Amino acid sequence: PRLAIIVVAAGSGTRLGLGVPKAFVPLAGRPLLEHALERVFDQPEPAQVVVVAPASHRAEAVAIGRRVAGIAADALTVVVGGDSRAASVSAGLAAVADTADVVLIHDAARALTPAEVFTRVVQRVRADRAGVIPALAVVDTIARRTPEGAVLGQVDRSELAAVQTPQGFPLAAYRAAVAAIVPGVEHTDDASVFAAAGHPVVTVEGDDRAFKVTTPWDLRRAEQLVRGAGP
Ligand code: CTP
Ligand code: MG
Repeated sequence: PRLAIIVVAAGSGTRLGLGVPKAFVPLAGRPLLEHALERVFDQPEPAQVVVVAPASHRAEAVAIGRRVAGIAADALTVVVGGDSRAASVSAGLAAVADTADVVLIHDAARALTPAEVFTRVVQRVRADRAGVIPALAVVDTIARRTPEGAVLGQVDRSELAAVQTPQGFPLAAYRAAVAAIVPGVEHTDDASVFAAAGHPVVTVEGDDRAFKVTTPWDLRRAEQLVRGAGP
């Protein structure tokens, strides 16, 4: 396939606090990863899908993948992740075949991200040959403050965007950008790795449903959405 989608699912889910790696926590009776993969396989382009799982849940990830992918299971690979999200992305990237021109990197924790966001990102990567990130306008007023809580000033909200996944890149250029990471420099997301290598990054419209399940409150909200109760 010309498209590769890496789904990082190897985190431990500390903030959710359920003692189970987050991607394997049940949401309306099925693991978060299963919900995420359903939407990945709903996007219309044939894709190689690489799931990055914790070593403890490798077999479970394979079973979930088979369940969702059905006859497309040939196009699914499960690899074991690392201690940081960046290490997990690297593990996923190593499993991506060079037949792809575009790679998407997606958080399993954004389990309700609709298929159309994937399509929007892929189309823009091909059109612009740039890094592409889904983003939403920030609705809250944002204040800068000291660690003690004293307000230093407000940030111009018109320049801010909340960034989501899937983030998309031309594959070869992304591999080169990862290979060029300066050791010790922390990158907060995949696009900042790409930008650090001198490439342009643009935003496309994100989606409210692409929120990241991080806290117990997020899981409740996701549960309501899946059950059709609305937020
Ligand atoms: N992730 C990963 N490997 C890691 C850390 C994170 O694959 N070593 C993945 C998570 O599974 C998740 C996504 O990156 O799908 C976003 O990370 P985050 O929301 O921080 O998930 P966790 O690290 O699992 O949660 P926490 O930080 O609360 O422990
Ligand atoms: Mg984390």
